[in-house]
Amino acid sequence: MYTLITGATSGIGRSFALSLGSKGKSLILIGRNEKELKKLTHFLQVKRKVEVIPIQMDLTQTDSISKLERFLEKNKIQLEMVINNAGKGLYGPFKELDLEDQENLIDLNIKAFTKLSKTVIPFMDKGGTLLQLASIAAFGPGPYMATYYASKAYVLSFSLALERELKKEGIKVAVLCPGPTRTAFFERAKMEKVSFAKLFYQTSEEVVRYTYKQLSKNKTVIVPGIVNKMMVAGLRYLPLQVAAFLVALTQGEK
Ligand SMILES: NC(=O)c1ccc[n+]([C@@H]2O[C@H](COP(=O)([O-])OP(=O)(O)OC[C@H]3O[C@@H](n4cnc5c(N)ncnc54)[C@H](OP(=O)(O)O)[C@@H]3O)[C@@H](O)[C@H]2O)c1
Repeated sequence: MYTLITGATSGIGRSFALSLGSKGKSLILIGRNEKELKKLTHFLQVKRKVEVIPIQMDLTQTDSISKLERFLEKNKIQLEMVINNAGKGLYGPFKELDLEDQENLIDLNIKAFTKLSKTVIPFMDKGGTLLQLASIAAFGPGPYMATYYASKAYVLSFSLALERELKKEGIKVAVLCPGPTRTAFFERAKMEKVSFAKLFYQTSEEVVRYTYKQLSKNKTVIVPGIVNKMMVAGLRYLPLQVAAFLVALTQGEK
C-alpha cells in the first residue's frame, strides 16, 4: 500500500512526505524538480528506511497523468492515501497577468487536479483517503488573485461532491484549506510584497500536524489555525461583494 503525493518537492507536499516517511509509509512522490526529488527520495530511503518511488513529471503536460495511470496498472499499485497537492498561484490584476500563465494555473489547479482524482480512485480500496488541497481562498472571490481563488473554489466544490459520491464505497475524501503558509508559493506567485498574509503565516509542518488530527476525527473540511477559521467564517457569511472588497484590501489594493 502506497501514499501518493503530488507536489512533493516543496512546501506542504514535502512536509507530508517527510512526516509520512517518518511513520514508515511507502511513498510515490511526484514533482518537477528532479534534483529536489532525488534528494528527498535519498533522505527517506536512507534515513527513514522507507520505500519511495520518485516520479519526475510536469502534471500539466498532455499524457503525464495517463502515463502515471499506466505505471500504477503495470505495477499493480494499491493506494491507501493520495494527497492531491500540486498547485500554484498568480498575483496581480487579471487584465495585466499573462494569459498563458493563467491558463497554466487552470491546467494545474483544475485540469490536472481533476484528472488525478479520476485516475487514482480505481487504485484505492475501502478505507482509503483522498486529501484534496484547496485553500481558505476557496470560500470567496479573490481580487488580484482572481484565477487562483476561483480555481480553489472549484477544488472545494468538486471535492465535497466527490466526498458524497465515494462515501458508500468507503473512500474518504477530505479537503485541506490552509491559509498563508510559509512555502515557495508566495515567491512563485510573485506575492512577496503582500504583507497582510505574512502576519498569519503558519509553517507547513503545523499544517500537516493539524491535518492528521482532523483526519483522525474524520473531518472533511480542514482549516488549520484560528485566524484562518475566522477568515473563512467572514468570507462565507458576508455579502459576496463585501468579501471581495475586504480581500482586495488584504491583497494590497490602494
Ligand atoms: N502556501 C500557502 O500559503 C498555501 C495556502 C493555501 C493553499 N496552498 C496550496 O497548497 C498546495 C501546495 O503549495 P505550497 O504552498 O506547498 O507551494 P510550493 O512550495 O510552491 O509547492 C508547490 C508544489 O507543486 C509542484 N508543482 C507545481 N507545478 C507543477 C506541475 N506543473 N507539475 C507537477 N508538480 C508541480 C511543485 O513542484 P516543483 O517544485 O518540483 O516544480 C511543488 O512541489 C497548492 O495547491 C497551494 O495552492 C498553499
